[in-house]
Amino acid sequence: MAEAPERNLAMDIVRITEAAALASARWLGRGDKNAGDGAAVEAMRNSFSSLPVDGIIVIGEGEKDNAPMLANGEHVGTGIGMPLDVAVDPVEGTNLLAFGRPNAISVVGVAPRGSMFNPGPSFYMRKLVVPKEASQVVDLDAPVDANLQNIAKAIGKKVQDLVVFVLDKPRHKDLIAKIRAVGARIQLHTDGDVAGALMACDPRSQVDCLLGVGGTPEGVITACAVRGMGGEIFARLEPQSYVEKEAIEKAGIDLRENLTTKTLVKSDDCFFAATGISGGDFLHGVRYDQKHAITHSLVIRGKTGTLRYIESYHNMSRLAKISAIQY
Ligand code: FBP
Repeated sequence: MAEAPERNLAMDIVRITEAAALASARWLGRGDKNAGDGAAVEAMRNSFSSLPVDGIIVIGEGEKDNAPMLANGEHVGTGIGMPLDVAVDPVEGTNLLAFGRPNAISVVGVAPRGSMFNPGPSFYMRKLVVPKEASQVVDLDAPVDANLQNIAKAIGKKVQDLVVFVLDKPRHKDLIAKIRAVGARIQLHTDGDVAGALMACDPRSQVDCLLGVGGTPEGVITACAVRGMGGEIFARLEPQSYVEKEAIEKAGIDLRENLTTKTLVKSDDCFFAATGISGGDFLHGVRYDQKHAITHSLVIRGKTGTLRYIESYHNMSRLAKISAIQY
């Protein structure tokens, strides 16, 4: 007998990323990353309060740079309903927002309680993100040229045609040199490797894979999306300071463990939503016309792999009458 469709939480959490994007978009290019982040955090916390779930934040943001945050361990939702692990990044790419650069997005992922990898005090991980076709032919420890040759072959391109997404950080000097030596092309971005990872998994984007070291929380959020999108994230914690390494070891977390999409988020009953803030190749940013603020979001359900792009027209004068947040 056919089962009745279950509740698709992605359709609920997208209202939360929309609220965060609407609130933070006012700070586009104004040079104040904490104000933009703070506005998104407040809007996100407010929207979560009416969501009928029993959520605990496993992936919060902010500890790394003392930014405003929804703290790890914080309860979100009404407290009645499904027990969930929650991953949030109210503004993924706070500098992108502050300087008006592309691809600042607001993201939320949810999964059944106990199924999300808890990064503890880990800030950084090495990541390799590839589309589905290449998931069997790469290895986090293989030389860069071998991985790129294999990816190119698996997706039917020449290695010179590949585009690799890399964060533009001093730690990636050698990596960039190796990619250039193989002849592949590179997109260097100052920030935003969740958007980069999603582009790597989306065959319609210009990006074919992502390589390098980025945030651990961002890696778990990425896995929430990749579960439904298809593709694969391979990762391993890679502390960038002695203090970080010591804290991870003290917390009893194995630095050598090879992490994958399925170990970062252990259930496919997960949901992901992202809303564009600044706009870019991946999602449009928040736009305004005479009456509306217009948002563009991607929502994903892990179990079915359904992706929905949602364009929402928010009537600003009506919203102002009922909303606790003034957008
Ligand atoms: P924020 O939104 O916290 O600024 O993070 C942006 C980001 O670029 C992530 O996309 C990435 O995973 C991480 O920072 C990399 O960290 P760092 O900038 O310290 O190298």
